[in-house]
Amino acid sequence: MLDILACPKCHAPFAQKDNTLSCTRCTLTFPVCDGIPDFRPAAFASRFAAAQFAEGEHHAEAWTKLKTGYLPWVKSIPDYCDWLESFYRTGFSAFGFPTAWLRDKAVLEVGSGPLGLLACFPHGVGVAVDPLMPSFVSYMREHWQPSPLRIAALGEELPMRDGTFDAAVAINCLDHTLEPDRILTAVVRALKPGGYFFLMNNVKSRPGVALSRIGEKLGIQRLTEVFHPHAFTQKSLTDACAAAGLEVVRNCRIKISESAEITACYGWKGALRKSVENECALWILARKP
Ligand SMILES: C[S@@+](CC[C@H](N)C(=O)[O-])C[C@H]1O[C@@H](n2cnc3c(N)ncnc32)[C@H](O)[C@@H]1O
Ligand SMILES: [Zn+2]
Repeated sequence: MLDILACPKCHAPFAQKDNTLSCTRCTLTFPVCDGIPDFRPAAFASRFAAAQFAEGEHHAEAWTKLKTGYLPWVKSIPDYCDWLESFYRTGFSAFGFPTAWLRDKAVLEVGSGPLGLLACFPHGVGVAVDPLMPSFVSYMREHWQPSPLRIAALGEELPMRDGTFDAAVAINCLDHTLEPDRILTAVVRALKPGGYFFLMNNVKSRPGVALSRIGEKLGIQRLTEVFHPHAFTQKSLTDACAAAGLEVVRNCRIKISESAEITACYGWKGALRKSVENECALWILARKP
């Protein structure tokens, strides 16, 4: 663990004593609780705290009550794990990667949620980062394997050594954050030169993103989604990758039509909004030059 972790502020190595990690350069120290090193700041910005609160409730309901959204054929936790694995696989298969490609790689997962891709795919060294990680322990411990190492941290302040990882993944994470550009920069720092980044996020049309931004700026709740302080178009997400120093290699945009059962719940305003937003899933394969 000490080989890959570094102080989130100054990136120097740690020394460990009992359940405390101490930066060997600055004065910062961080606790390790339930085997989870915790690098989170003392407080979050209020908008991010609201998103995290809703996210924590959503994950707990999914894993303890199987409230997983519209997944009518998922009837058990093993079904849910199986569905997640097949969802993660879509990004790899789209770009021609066998999932076993990670088997001998050092891989970083940002915003893993309670399970995450590394729990589903064989990998070499694995680290899964999520600011909600400590809240997952009570209901996820039985589902976790020794690897990935799970840590509590913000993607904006990754406690990783420079140039450590062969690959990184961030799935459905960046729109949950306030500063996605800082996360991309931190991922690039942690990747080795030539390392691959598998990124997935929902993207919207330009008017769809404009509506979300107006809602966020003016505090109009019906225009916002509590989970998603941020919204991207395909172009803004691609540009953000390039601005962070990544070379975008390929992308795969997926639009799944909704069933009549779902659209019936929207009403005409909801249906109009959905049509204007034209939300799609975008997978990006990028590379650190
Ligand atoms: C929708 S979940 C996705 C979980 C998983 N990647 C998946 O696709 O099944 C988004 C996750 O991103 C995490 N997250 C939110 N803000 C983050 C940040 N600033 N840095 C890292 N992870 C973050 C959330 O706590 C949440 O668990
Ligand atoms: Zn330090």
